[in-house]
Amino acid sequence: MTEKKIRKFYIETYGCQMNFSDSEIVASILSDEGFEACLDLHEADIVLLNTCSIREHAEDRVRKRLHYFRSLKKKNPGLTIGLLGCMAERTKIALIEEEQLLDIIAGPDSYRHLPGLLESVESGQRGIDTILSADETYADIHPVRLDSNGVSAFISIMRGCENFCSYCVVPYTRGQERSRDPESVIREAKDLFLQGFREVTLLGQNVNSYEWKEGNTTVNFPLLLERIAGLDPRLRVRFATSHPKDLSLELIEIIAKYPNICKAIHLPVQSGSNALLDKMNRKYTREEYLEKIRAIRNCIPGCAISTDIITGFCDETEEDHQQTLELMKEAAFDFAFTFKYSERPQTIAAEQYDDNVPAEIKERRLREIIELQQELSSASNHRDLGETFEVLIEGESKRSDKQYFGRNSQNKVLVFPKTSQKPGEYLKINVKRVTSATLIGEAV
Ligand code: SAH
Ligand code: SF4
Ligand code: F3S
Repeated sequence: MTEKKIRKFYIETYGCQMNFSDSEIVASILSDEGFEACLDLHEADIVLLNTCSIREHAEDRVRKRLHYFRSLKKKNPGLTIGLLGCMAERTKIALIEEEQLLDIIAGPDSYRHLPGLLESVESGQRGIDTILSADETYADIHPVRLDSNGVSAFISIMRGCENFCSYCVVPYTRGQERSRDPESVIREAKDLFLQGFREVTLLGQNVNSYEWKEGNTTVNFPLLLERIAGLDPRLRVRFATSHPKDLSLELIEIIAKYPNICKAIHLPVQSGSNALLDKMNRKYTREEYLEKIRAIRNCIPGCAISTDIITGFCDETEEDHQQTLELMKEAAFDFAFTFKYSERPQTIAAEQYDDNVPAEIKERRLREIIELQQELSSASNHRDLGETFEVLIEGESKRSDKQYFGRNSQNKVLVFPKTSQKPGEYLKINVKRVTSATLIGEAV
């Protein structure tokens, strides 16, 4: 009797942290069915691309990568190629050019069906499943930690989004918002801690609206956070992303109360102009946003605040742009992800508004935003000179095997000479020098 050859799969992931977390779910589902994860694309029998649709550029990168996969398949016609994630969901089978190449197309809620889809491919069919679900949370799946440093890990606590910001494709690719059973989240955090992990990041498109109802009790996000922080003071907790409209005082107080809840809040503002915020359907004003920033600064001294900004959205005037720059200064963001508006098919903005800010103006406004943020980030780093932070060691610095790198509670990277401590342990580091992206220090 000949034994069936174990098929090896390779996953490449694009997009947000949630997509990386999904790849770990996919790896778990396939491993449980007898497939084997491999880290070398050229050894794989099955290649999976977990994709992102957030901006046109994200999809272009995937299309380019598929060209390369086409050449691999020419050499090895038995290779199975699958498209997963948001782009699979958005384009479904409309990737005409790739139609002959792709054996599998699976959306974010279809990963349990991957083994079945792979079976159809073996019998000569194409496996397609892009049905979105109202209740899939993969709560019972134990993610296989891919590419892990053994210190920090992601935990998805909810899926989908129903905010329908007018520019955003996510509600269409990820479907209805749903929260995961808190007990399963707590179990996962506990298991990670027992395996030696010391930092978990709770993930959702809008973690502040996390809600789980059972009988008469409701667990909201602050309560969930508190329960995870209570597991062990040596386990750090982070979370992303917070929608400003749902950031409550209750949450701010919980963050302030527990030393192991990290003092870093990512609070995407998108624009500093009320006209644009309204058009984006963000459901808060510039004044309300700044009020939340003040509440954070008052209750949580030393808290880092980061943001996302989109420039050049429909009808954005020079005055709107100036208001964004002003808000950035007033909020004094420690860090920002900045993007040019990219029209996405299906969204409210694509259907109702004109993408009418010329490319060169988007370019120039983005440049101004990036320059200002560089100044703000540099000022933020200089404020840390001479300060001492508790740092969780993550591993060896890329630049030198004599140095470690790790993060402080504010999520800033610190580099420092190695000590007898190991990755996964905490160290107090005094900041001696700063560069644009890193704090350089020494153990005290
Ligand atoms: N759920 C998160 C954001 C997820 S997407 C939130 O609401 O905060 C990450 C970021 O991508 C967004 O915050 C936004 O700044 C940016 N983005 C989303 N759609 C975009 C588009 N069509 N063009 C440019 N940037 C976009
Ligand atoms: Fe997109 Fe808005 Fe949902 Fe964030 S909150 S994922 S920007 S629709
Ligand atoms: Fe991209 Fe989907 Fe995340 S569109 S940003 S991978 S939710």
